[in-house]
Amino acid sequence: MDTIVVLDFGSQTSQLIARRVRELNVYSELLPWNVAAERVFQLQPKGFILSGGPASVYEANAPQVPDYVLESKKPILGICYGMQALTHRLGGKVNPSPQREYGPATITPLIENALLEGEQRVWMSHGDRIEQLPSGFIALAKSENSPIAAMADTQRNYYAVQFHPEVHHTPRGKEILANFVLKICQAQAQWTTESIIQQTIERVRQQVKGEMVLSAVSGGVDSTVATAMVQRAVGGQLLAIFVDTGLLRHGEAVQVRQALETNLGVELVTVNAAQIFLQALQGVTEPEKKRRIIGETFIRIFEEQARLHGKPRFLVQGTIYPDVVESSAPDRAQAQRIKTHHNVGGLPSDMQFELVEPLRYLFKDEVRIVGEALGLPASIVWRQPFPGPGLAVRCLGEITAERIERLRKADAILIDELQAAGLLRMRSDPHSLQGTAQAFAVLLPVQSVGVMGDQRTYQEVVALRAVTTEDYMTADWARLPYELLAKIANRIVNEVSGVNRVVYDITSKPPATIEWE
Ligand code: XMP
Repeated sequence: MDTIVVLDFGSQTSQLIARRVRELNVYSELLPWNVAAERVFQLQPKGFILSGGPASVYEANAPQVPDYVLESKKPILGICYGMQALTHRLGGKVNPSPQREYGPATITPLIENALLEGEQRVWMSHGDRIEQLPSGFIALAKSENSPIAAMADTQRNYYAVQFHPEVHHTPRGKEILANFVLKICQAQAQWTTESIIQQTIERVRQQVKGEMVLSAVSGGVDSTVATAMVQRAVGGQLLAIFVDTGLLRHGEAVQVRQALETNLGVELVTVNAAQIFLQALQGVTEPEKKRRIIGETFIRIFEEQARLHGKPRFLVQGTIYPDVVESSAPDRAQAQRIKTHHNVGGLPSDMQFELVEPLRYLFKDEVRIVGEALGLPASIVWRQPFPGPGLAVRCLGEITAERIERLRKADAILIDELQAAGLLRMRSDPHSLQGTAQAFAVLLPVQSVGVMGDQRTYQEVVALRAVTTEDYMTADWARLPYELLAKIANRIVNEVSGVNRVVYDITSKPPATIEWE
C-alpha cells in the first residue's frame, strides 16, 4: 500500500499530520526522526513529511534530516522545524526571526506552483526563519513576517512551508497536503475503510489460525470495536467477557451488550461486578488509589473468568496507533498518559497470553469509522470520551452505591438536555466544531445548606462541566445558554434526590483539566 512517512521532530501536531494524510485515504506512519532506516524502508514510502518541533537547528544536538531521506530521492515536504532542518541540511541559512511569529498570518504566493495557490490564512508558530534559500530552491510564498513562508526545489521535488497545514487554523491546509501527497508524491488513495477491515481480518486470521481468542470488553469504544473486528475475522473462536463495573454512564452497559450480542452475534459472558467494585472502593477517597483498585479488581475478575473458560492462548487488546507512537517515543508521553496507566481494561502482566491487536495501526477516528462499518451503532462508536475508571473519577470523595446513582442521574439529565438543544457533539467531525466535545456531571464531596418548600436541606453539590476542544489537550468551557443551564440545574435539583445545588465550571484547560477527580 502506498505510504507517506512522517518523521517526527517533536511537534505537538505531528500525529495530526499523519491523520490528515490518512484522511486523504493514503496510509501514513509517524516515526521518530532518528528511527532506524530499515524500519522506514520496510514501508517503501512514496514520500516524506518532516514535522515541526521545538528545537532550533543551530543548537548543539538539534535533530537533523537523516541522510537516507535525501538519498532515497523521494519527494519531501518540510513543515516548520522540518523546513528549517531541510534548509540547514542543504546549505541554506536559518536565523532567529526578528519577531517570533505565533498565530494567524496571511500568505501570498509569489509564483505559480504545485503546492499551494491563492492568498490564504495559515497558522504560524516559529521563532526561527529561513534567511537564505539552499541552492536550487525558490521562494513560493511570503507572509508579513516571513519573506520565505514556503519554498521548493521543483527538480528534486523538495517542498517546505513555514506554517502548519495540518491544523484547523489553516483552513486550506488539507489542500496543500493533498497536493503534496497525491500530486507530487503520486500516492494512490488505497487506505479506505474496506481495505482497513479486509487487511485486519487477514492479519487476525493468520495470527490466531484455529485457536480460541479471549476478549475483555470494558465498555469503551476501543475494546468494543476490537471485539467486533475479531468477531468478523474468527467469529466462532471468540469468547468475549464483559465486566460490568457498575461505573458506566446511564444505559451504557445495556447498549454495549446489545450491540455486541444481538447485533453482531458475539458470544458475550457478562459479569455483573458492581458490588465487588463498590466493596473494593469502600472508604477510598484518593483518586489515584481509586484508579489502582479499579484496575486491579478488573484484572482479578478477568483472570477468574479466563481460568473458567480454559484460558485461551490469544487475548484481544484495543491498543490504538497513538499508544504505539507514544510508547516508541517515551520522552514525548504526555501528562495525560500518566493518568491512563491504571485504566480499566489494563492487562495482567503475568498472564501468558499472545496479544491480538486489531486496532494497532488506527487513529481514534478510524477506529470509530471502522466500528460503524462493522455494524456497531453510531451512538456507541461516536460517544464522548469517558475515562476508563468510569464514574469513579467523577464521584469525588467516597464512592457509595447511592452517590454513584446520584451522579449517574445528574449526568443523564445534562446529556439529555444538551442533546435536545442540539449541543452535544457526537461526531468528531473536525469541520463542525459546534456543540460540546465533552460534557458531564461531577459529584462534589461537599454539602451545603438549601431550602426546599419550607424545609431546610443540607445536601450535595453537582458541578457541570462542558467543554469545547479539538484535541483534549487544551479546552475552553462551553458558553452554554443561560436558559439551558437554568433548565438543567432545575431538573437536577428536582429529580435527583440528595442534591440541592448545581454549579457550572467556567475554567479552561489549562490551568484546569477537563476532569475534576
Ligand atoms: P484531563 O482531565 O486530563 O482529560 O483534561 C483529558 C481527556 O482524557 C480523558 N481522561 C481519561 N481517559 N482514562 C481515560 O481513558 C483516564 O483515566 C482518563 N482521565 C482523563 C478525559 O475524559 C478527557 O477527555
